[in-house]
Amino acid sequence: MKLEATTDKAISFLFGGSRHRTWPPYEIVEDTLEATARGKLEKLERLYHKGQDLSWDGREVLSSLIAKHGPPRLPEDKKASALLLLGILLWGELAAWAISADLAERIEDVEAKMAATSQAHDEARHFYVLRDYVRALGEPIPRLGGVGRTLLLGILETDSLVHKLIGMQLMVEANALAIFKSLGAANLEPVLTDLLPYYERDEARHVGLGVLYLPRLLGKLTRLEAARATAFQIRCVGLLISAGLPMRPHLQNLGIEPRKMAERVVALQDEIFGQMRETARLDGSTWVGGFVNPKGGAGPNLLELVHPPGGIDAATPLHRAFLNTWTAGARIADRALA
Ligand SMILES: [Fe+2]
Ligand SMILES: [Fe+2]
Repeated sequence: MKLEATTDKAISFLFGGSRHRTWPPYEIVEDTLEATARGKLEKLERLYHKGQDLSWDGREVLSSLIAKHGPPRLPEDKKASALLLLGILLWGELAAWAISADLAERIEDVEAKMAATSQAHDEARHFYVLRDYVRALGEPIPRLGGVGRTLLLGILETDSLVHKLIGMQLMVEANALAIFKSLGAANLEPVLTDLLPYYERDEARHVGLGVLYLPRLLGKLTRLEAARATAFQIRCVGLLISAGLPMRPHLQNLGIEPRKMAERVVALQDEIFGQMRETARLDGSTWVGGFVNPKGGAGPNLLELVHPPGGIDAATPLHRAFLNTWTAGARIADRALA
């Protein structure tokens, strides 16, 4: 008995802890599993191959853009605001890298695993190119606010695959895509403007993993698990809004209209939701729930609440006071949680 325990410990020491005891997962290449959902899985696998075909060399792209336009310099009056936004994107990319690598390890279906692996490869490139870009600006790498940090850590640390996919693929990616588009349209300086479309193209593909894979997981949830997934999404929305409210003057300084950016996110999530429904229908799975479409239910009211038409100044005094209190609270949380 004692010898057995010692042998176990020795094996564990030599080959890692119990986490990898069942590795390699032979079942992922077994024919029976492959045969069950070939059509949909092929689409997931295609995300990987597309990722490979469209892969770009970050070092080459950045250096040729700098050679074309000269060293990047931000306009003095917009520098602080732009750096804040670039900081959010930079640390968001690092988190996306870690989260997609985690998904690649933990997802069992080989095609979705391939898509997540391809995403991890993209996110590594996104991170180092943005880091090198900020270095080329000659500016210090900006730090992340505490609310954004709490949001990303929550997604990074959750044990639930469903929560991870909702948080990363559907919430963070959709917001990142809207920021990339808005920042590109703001036309701050030519190197950044030409660099951002490379990011956009990759991020749009990343949403695909959530669209194609998440409905199958949501279809298996119990009502309690679905309620937990919805709660997780609501938490992400709350943190995203709280991180965004103090950014409002900075966005306006960059010529970005916050309501327009939020509308972009909502439209994209509505599109994602429609595609997920379609995936579930083709899959024949009964979707219990777990993901709320921001365009349905309380979504439009939330948009009106956070981004009143005409801006905060056009809102009623009560509405204005509410938003100013929320913003002040978010600023305190940003410092306290950083
Ligand atoms: Fe990215
Ligand atoms: Fe991404």
